[in-house]
Parts: sequence; structure tokens; C-alpha cells
Amino acid sequence: MPVDPLAPDVAPVAPTASSRRLASVPAQPGVAKPDPILVVDGVTRTFGGLKAVDVAHLEVARGLITSVIGPNGAGKTTLFNLLTGFDTADSGTWTLDGVALHGKHPHSVARAGMVRTFQLTKALSKMTVIDNLLLGAANQKGEGMISALLPFLWRDQEREVVERADKLLDRFRLGHMRNEYAGTLSGGQRKLLEMARALMVEPRVILLDEPMAGVNPALVQSLLGHVTALRDEGMTVIFIEHDMDVVMGISDWVVCLAQGAVIAEGLPQAVGSDPKVIDAYLGSHAADDFGGTP
Ligand SMILES: Nc1ncnc2c1ncn2[C@@H]1O[C@H](COP(=O)(O)OP(=O)(O)OP(=O)(O)O)[C@@H](O)[C@H]1O
Ligand SMILES: [Mg+2]
Repeated sequence: MPVDPLAPDVAPVAPTASSRRLASVPAQPGVAKPDPILVVDGVTRTFGGLKAVDVAHLEVARGLITSVIGPNGAGKTTLFNLLTGFDTADSGTWTLDGVALHGKHPHSVARAGMVRTFQLTKALSKMTVIDNLLLGAANQKGEGMISALLPFLWRDQEREVVERADKLLDRFRLGHMRNEYAGTLSGGQRKLLEMARALMVEPRVILLDEPMAGVNPALVQSLLGHVTALRDEGMTVIFIEHDMDVVMGISDWVVCLAQGAVIAEGLPQAVGSDPKVIDAYLGSHAADDFGGTP
């Protein structure tokens, strides 16, 4: 068998063990969950006349993988943008472990423990892989120009930060690319770099926007292994994904958005067979996602 250079250190485990905690939670939009880490209330965002996000109530269970599904344009990315401060909600509140995050900038949200990756990766191709990680950490922590201009402030932390970056590069099998330009990475490696960069701030919640999109199918399994490993280390993962086979295989809980609203949520099997969910996909001509097309 060929050696997979992106194989995770931790083998994927069946999600059933961790999702057992949610087994008795009814499959209803907005349902309360035991020990939620993130609670969203009345969040809306309109673009012109279009209501892109309209989430009345959503609780995300701690330490599990929650997948967010829904047809193209359902509002998944916009919801991530709002929750992480990259866009401003028209209304609504949300809390991370009881701490209000609405109105906060991305770096404050990151400092509070919640980070996201982007659907289109944001790796800076003319910077080295290691510098992407270091800069990403600095940006997310809100350490911009000032500390760059005052290196003595930065130096104290530098060794620890570089060590953390190198550990992450090793974990994601990118160590050999450390000093190469990020532009030379493959699509899959860029996704890993993006994940590593998000992990630099040691978040409690990580939001992944289609981490498998554009990745060579042979590497999808390894990426999934990395995602389950994060969950198994205690992190809460919120994961936007289109491929229903992937969603069924990895999720502890699934939330379906359509036209900005949560139309269904529940254990993967329940949501996958929910007629409202199937209708939402059929209505959007994206029913192929249900076939798990690559
Ligand atoms: N900056 C913007 N300006 C205007 N409309 C926007 C903007 N961002 C998103 N939209 C619209 O909001 C709706 C939701 O978009 P969003 O990108 O959140 O969907 P999505 O569920 O992530 O879709 P996909 O699965 O294709 O990534 C779409 O109709 C989109 O065209
Ligand atoms: Mg999107």
C-alpha cells in the first residue's frame, strides 16, 4: 500500500461513542442540549432583500463534531462569518461558555477560544509555511504592527510560539515544507496549513468551512482523521460539509440550514432521512450531494 504522507497520528474513531451523549436529545430545530459550549439566539443577516441568515436558536454541544449542511447559498458560510466576527449580524446574540461574543472582532473571538478556517484557503503563497503559521497566530491574537515594530515585546514569546508552530507542522506532516513558500503546497496541504494556523491559538471551538473541498479524494480520509483527532482531544468542531457520506461518517450531530434558517437538526441518520432536508436539497437542484458524489 502506498504511504499516505498526510496520515494523521491518531486513527479515526467511530463517532458513536461520543455522540451517545446526544442520543436522547430530540431531533428538533433549536433543541436544548446538555452542556452546550456555544449558544446562538436570534441571529440575522440580510444582504439587500435577501435574508442570508435567520437562526432563531442553536446550541452546539461541547467536545463533539457538529456538521452544518444545507444547499448552496443556505447561509452556512455567512453564519460562520458572523459567529467569528468577520461579518456583522443585523441582530442576535451568541455566547461561548457564557461569554458574549457578538460585536467582537475576529481576534477577540479567537482569544476567547473560537477560530475558523475559510472555504477558500487564505494561505499567503509568497510567505513560507512556518511564517504563515506565525503570522496567523499573531493576527488572530491581535498582535499586529505594534509588536512587529517592538521586537523585544515579541521575542519573549517567540520561542514558545515557534515551538508550537513546529509541533503543528509535524502533526500535519508539513514539517518538510516548513521553509518552502506556501504557494508550493498542494490543495490538501493548504487545507492542513489552514487548520494548523487556526490551532496556533489553542482554541476550544474550531469552525471548519468545507475543509475537504478541492482535496484529492485519496487524502480525504486523512483529513477526516485529523478532524476526529481534534474532537478526541476535547475540542468542539463545527464543520461545514456537502458530501453526505462524509457527514454521516464523521458527525455526532447534524444541523441543516436552508434559506438561512435551521430547518432540521439531529443525529446524522435522522437528519439524512428527514424529508424537509431532502426537499431543501431537491429544491436547490443540489440533490447530488445526497449521493455522496466526490
Ligand atoms: N457579501 C455578500 N453580499 C451579498 N450577498 C451575499 C454576501 N455573502 C453571501 N451572500 C448571499 O447570502 C446567501 C448565503 O451565502 P453563503 O455563502 O453563506 O451560503 P453557503 O451556505 O455557505 O453556500 P455554499 O454551500 O455555496 O458555500 C447567498 O444567497 C449569497 O449569495
Ligand atoms: Mg459556503
